[in-house]
Amino acid sequence: MEGLHTGNKVLDEERQGEATIIEDKGNLIEGKRLYLESYGCQMNFSDSEVVAGILMKNGYKTVPQDSQADLILLNTCSIRENAEQRVRKRLQAFKSAKKERPGLIVGVLGCMAERLKKKLLEEEKLVDLVVGPDAYRELPSLIEEVHQGHKAVNVLLSREETYADISPVRLDKNGVSAFISIMRGCDNMCSFCVVPFTRGRERSRDPESIVKEAEELYANGYREVTLLGQNVDSYKWNMTSKGRVKDESKPTVNFAQLLDRVAQVAPDLRIRFSTSHPKDMTDDVLHTIAKYENICNYIHLPVQSGNTEMLKRMNRGYSREWYMNRIEAIWRIIPDCAISTDIIVGFCGETEQEHEDTLSLMRKVEYDFAYMFNYSERPRTLAERKFEDDVPTEVKKRRLREVIDLQQEHSLKSNKKQVGKTFEVLIEGFSKKSDQELCGRNSQNTMIVFPKENYKKGQYVHVEVTDCTSATLLGHAVSKEPVEVV
Ligand code: 5AD
Ligand code: SF4
Repeated sequence: MEGLHTGNKVLDEERQGEATIIEDKGNLIEGKRLYLESYGCQMNFSDSEVVAGILMKNGYKTVPQDSQADLILLNTCSIRENAEQRVRKRLQAFKSAKKERPGLIVGVLGCMAERLKKKLLEEEKLVDLVVGPDAYRELPSLIEEVHQGHKAVNVLLSREETYADISPVRLDKNGVSAFISIMRGCDNMCSFCVVPFTRGRERSRDPESIVKEAEELYANGYREVTLLGQNVDSYKWNMTSKGRVKDESKPTVNFAQLLDRVAQVAPDLRIRFSTSHPKDMTDDVLHTIAKYENICNYIHLPVQSGNTEMLKRMNRGYSREWYMNRIEAIWRIIPDCAISTDIIVGFCGETEQEHEDTLSLMRKVEYDFAYMFNYSERPRTLAERKFEDDVPTEVKKRRLREVIDLQQEHSLKSNKKQVGKTFEVLIEGFSKKSDQELCGRNSQNTMIVFPKENYKKGQYVHVEVTDCTSATLLGHAVSKEPVEVV
């Protein structure tokens, strides 16, 4: 799913799909111990919080290790083949564990559940439970079926389900930043992408429930929310996909209006969002970002390729010129906005010239960071049916290397430009390397590390940047006297 990534700036294929293990060291209830592992995009992590919300209401407690659990759930990703392979390996390991621990239930959630359906249950006998992204409400009754000796599966996709009324249980324990899903599914049918098949049709969530969730998070001490959707720019409430009003008695809400409402929850609640789509991102959205200090100046705008013919084959709905027009609009309306992107190399029929066009577009935009991938053919997609996956692996690898190398140059250049400036940073916790250092992001989403002094997680602090790597800025906190914040 487009651009819904976790953390790191320059990610190659290998790093995507890494598992994050969810911990809760609370009291354990016999027979109701859940171990939940999430793979892939931010949307999956957000879904896992919905799953935890549903199951904890039904008496489950999460445990930090699979060896302690009686229910193991893997929330899976299908975006590229290697993400699926990683999960399969994990399932093989659990298959042996099942032999030693009778009664242990293993379930697959998310995109692989949807894609592989009964195959996992029947042919490969790897799991007891297969539940697609729109069927999580059914989890308690499906688990009950398994307890009664049946295999259980529900992979029905819905046109309505948004889990708007479910209170997600926050599993990422930093207590400072949280995800809020604002929509589900995708209607775009980019030809390389499996998401429309695994997550179904696009639907938007009630804006009241979104604002309420942001208010509750703020009241609980959170200071940053990230609004999530496969294509946030096509968020629409009370409108059909063609833009007609559904219920005349109610207001319609588009993404710019939603941003406006969430930004008003509290001036010190930061708002981020992901992912924007170049074909749908309006100047209205950009003006709303510019209008509010607390909407972060950072846009993830996946380009995929810098060549118009290639973009047509990818069914992206825009040309190179249209994309550059959107970039220029960002530069004009939000001059200090950071921009990141997603790039696929080696898509069907990619010529050397088309690849060069991607590199030349990167040189024009100079992205602050990027997520870059080799094309991986996915079953059922338009590309699988219409085109040949004909770029040799060696060529894909070389092109990916070129793209990554260029991006690293740009990331370093972008970070070097920040040295000497002072930024407002929201402190997320200790740095990875030392408990004497804190870290947090600036509005532009760059991680800044600085000595701890007496500052604490969840506070805003002004940090002067003195040095950098291609991924991180380094600096020290400066006095709280008014400083010019970039
Ligand atoms: N192969 C490689 N990369 C893909 N992406 C989506 N589908 C594929 C695929 N089949 C990438 C796109 C998208 C990001 C989340 O994953 O760049 O924006
Ligand atoms: Fe993103 Fe396109 Fe996939 Fe939709 S179909 S999730 S817009 S890459």
